[in-house]
Amino acid sequence: MNLIINARDAMPEGGTIVVSAENRTASDDDPLPLHEGDYVVISVIDRGCGISPELLDKVLEPFFTTKEVGKGTGLGLSMVYGFAKQTGGTLNIESKVGVGTCTELWLPRATGNAARKGPRSNVSQDPVAQRSLRILLIDDHAEVRGTTAAMLRDLGHSTVDVGTGAEGVEILSADERKFDLLVTDYAMPRLSGTEVIKLARQHVTDLPALIVTGYADMDEVSERPSDVGLLLKPFTVHDLSRAVQGAVESR
Ligand SMILES: Nc1ncnc2c1ncn2[C@@H]1O[C@H](COP(=O)(O)OP(=O)(O)OP(=O)(O)O)[C@@H](O)[C@H]1O
Ligand SMILES: [Mg+2]
Repeated sequence: MNLIINARDAMPEGGTIVVSAENRTASDDDPLPLHEGDYVVISVIDRGCGISPELLDKVLEPFFTTKEVGKGTGLGLSMVYGFAKQTGGTLNIESKVGVGTCTELWLPRATGNAARKGPRSNVSQDPVAQRSLRILLIDDHAEVRGTTAAMLRDLGHSTVDVGTGAEGVEILSADERKFDLLVTDYAMPRLSGTEVIKLARQHVTDLPALIVTGYADMDEVSERPSDVGLLLKPFTVHDLSRAVQGAVESR
């Protein structure tokens, strides 16, 4: 993400960022500080302002930034570099002022099928994952909504996602047997999560419900109906799975 944000910042007028991945082999006479072997190289390429040769060594230093105060901490590349080094890879930056920059993340390639050898993920062992629920998800923040929906689908559920409480209540009133669970964000512009649940239950009195919230809203959330579960942000897929199970069981 940092590499792509850097590429974006280098092209204030806009442009195309190319992200690619390929298998490459490093040999001993390679100029890069790498052991001989197989690597996966992830490249992020922009046609932005570029980095001058004097600065090219400095950009990896912690806190080195050319961005305004509040725009950059200068920690991005040093973290990417540290991460690449720890895995036995490296970070290679090639840049020309006025032409653009190519940043390559070299990571050692795994041999064999690592995915199959590893332990089975918790998600597939989770009891909730076994019963597929139809879930109505309400969150006014599109990105958060997308992430939560993806997690719910990973757990084996199906979702209908909407951005406002009003839309959610409308969908529920049109088909009262359509959903097994309502998952709603708490802090939303018009209707709060608690209000949405109360309206929803005018149509579907026994609808299990779960509120997702940050610590900031803990006091208000205590007003929710007593059987409504609470899931604190940020949460893992495992937290979500448990909260979904709890909400369905308590109703
Ligand atoms: N793709 C790029 N094109 C031009 N300059 C770049 C590019 N990537 C990094 N730089 C230069 O390197 C500096 C350091 O980058 P780094 O990602 O470490 O920090 P930052 O982007 O300034 O802040 P942060 O990543 O912490 O928000 C940037 O301020 C910028 O001057
Ligand atoms: Mg950065």
